[in-house]
Amino acid sequence: MLIDRDIPRGNGYHLRKLTYFIACSIDGFIGDPSGDATSMYRFVNEEFLSFLKADYPETVPVEGRKALGFHDVPNQRFDTVVQGRASYQLALDAHVTSPYAQLREFVASRTLTESPDANVELISQDLVGRIRELKSEAGDLGIWLCGGSQLAGELIGEIDELVIKTYPLVYGSGMPMFGSDLEAIEFTLDAVRTFDNGALVRTYSRKR
Ligand SMILES: NC(=O)c1ccc[n+]([C@@H]2O[C@H](COP(=O)([O-])OP(=O)(O)OC[C@H]3O[C@@H](n4cnc5c(N)ncnc54)[C@H](OP(=O)(O)O)[C@@H]3O)[C@@H](O)[C@H]2O)c1
Repeated sequence: MLIDRDIPRGNGYHLRKLTYFIACSIDGFIGDPSGDATSMYRFVNEEFLSFLKADYPETVPVEGRKALGFHDVPNQRFDTVVQGRASYQLALDAHVTSPYAQLREFVASRTLTESPDANVELISQDLVGRIRELKSEAGDLGIWLCGGSQLAGELIGEIDELVIKTYPLVYGSGMPMFGSDLEAIEFTLDAVRTFDNGALVRTYSRKR
């Protein structure tokens, strides 16, 4: 069944939601074997950008927001982002220390000893405990688990929602959505949004 309607807003939980919002190939890879997802970028066209601007503007990195003219659009779903250090490293390599300055930023790392930016808090121990603390804070907006694969695998127990941007590409092999062995976990489909270029965005809630 194809559902094409507004994705539900707000929290509805007593805890803030942790949402794994991620770009994937049809066969479920978040990038090539090295994690490189640049071949997906070509599907982020005008229609897709309009969707991001309306529903998930805070997931566009700060430089992209400026270039696209929506740097001042208010956050819609999230006020916090959590990244693994390998994902954050891509920003550092581009000399950007706060890629999502519109959000509170957390980076999980055991090797970084000092945060490179006042807006970035490092999580070096008790990752799950820190995420639970963030989820228990008051607020209407949720927490975006940005990735990558390793971090998502470690935080699977805390994930409440999946928002999967699927682009019409088959990789054959690559970096999986979850970088650890998991038991089957059931989710409920809440919404599917389709795009003319073959991209789709599915939203699932975890069955608890
Ligand atoms: N398709 C998409 O939408 C998307 C989104 C995000 C990322 N990506 C891709 O994902 C790739 C990176 O993913 P990845 O799986 O290699 O790495 P990752 O999950 O981004 O980061 C792994 C790192 O996080 C830190 N970490 C993990 N667990 C930790 C814990 N329990 N406590 C403290 N620190 C912890 C460690 O950093 P230290 O080594 O510093 O200890 C570890 O090396 C990138 O290539 C990126 O392109 C794709």
